[in-house]
Amino acid sequence: MSVAIDLTGQVALVTGSRRGLGKSIAIRLAQAGADIVINDIEPGREEAEATAAEIRATYGVRAITLCGDVSKAEDAAALIEQAWAEMGKIDILVNNAGVTRDNLLIRMSDEEWQMVININLSGAFYCTRAAAKRMMKARYGRIINIASVSGLMGIPGQSNYSASKAGLIGLTKANAKELATRNITVNAIAPGFIVSAMTDKLTEERRAEYLKMIPADRFGTSDEVADAVLFYASPLAAYTTGHVLNVDGGLVM
Ligand SMILES: NC(=O)c1ccc[n+]([C@@H]2O[C@H](COP(=O)([O-])OP(=O)(O)OC[C@H]3O[C@@H](n4cnc5c(N)ncnc54)[C@H](O)[C@@H]3O)[C@@H](O)[C@H]2O)c1
Repeated sequence: MSVAIDLTGQVALVTGSRRGLGKSIAIRLAQAGADIVINDIEPGREEAEATAAEIRATYGVRAITLCGDVSKAEDAAALIEQAWAEMGKIDILVNNAGVTRDNLLIRMSDEEWQMVININLSGAFYCTRAAAKRMMKARYGRIINIASVSGLMGIPGQSNYSASKAGLIGLTKANAKELATRNITVNAIAPGFIVSAMTDKLTEERRAEYLKMIPADRFGTSDEVADAVLFYASPLAAYTTGHVLNVDGGLVM
């Protein structure tokens, strides 16, 4: 028996998807047949449009770019409205946009704290609030929040990031309970250390330290995170909601 995941006819919006994990997630959903909305900040428009063009050319699905800063409530609402207007619906929302601004607690500035909370946590809230209103009417939705092991275990130097990702997990669970009867699932993924621009910034010393903590003895790939998103977006996860799936090589258990 073979089981194939077919998302043909569905529309997925992935925030922060011009590159990195978001791009891999958008590609994986497109491979399964979904039409895609690429979102990123305005200065990243060129790269976002190139990603959308690559997806159209390679997978033959519709793919459009809608730039907007998800940490601004009005931008997030406009993003969802525009996506709905242009694509007719949003079946799958992936709240992926995220940043780090690491610093030790006593040195962390108000700006570093606020920026990370605004993008990683408030951004997901604004997009989910706007999308949920329409998904409730459509009586269908798959909302997937990209959290982090940092929100589960706490990482020194990441007070802002750990708090934002722990908050995102709380948001996931509250939203899952509110929306479950409307056929809308809300789940989170907690990636561990993934080969990416974010982890390229680590010093060799830090990298070796983290590797010692990972039973699989390697960093993960963005494709492995995308596979978990595909599962949540698929009919295979219809009865799974409020769950946090660690994609971390056994780092947190
Ligand atoms: N890389 C890792 O090891 C790792 C581990 C755990 C979790 N994550 C999470 O995965 C997600 C993607 O991370 P990545 O490693 O691909 O990082 P990345 O920096 O390559 O990608 C993040 C994208 O989000 C965009 N973005 C930033 N602020 C935005 C805003 N206000 N509005 C819209 N878009 C915005 C950026 O421009 C960028 O394109 C993040 O939420 C991150 O916290 C990453």
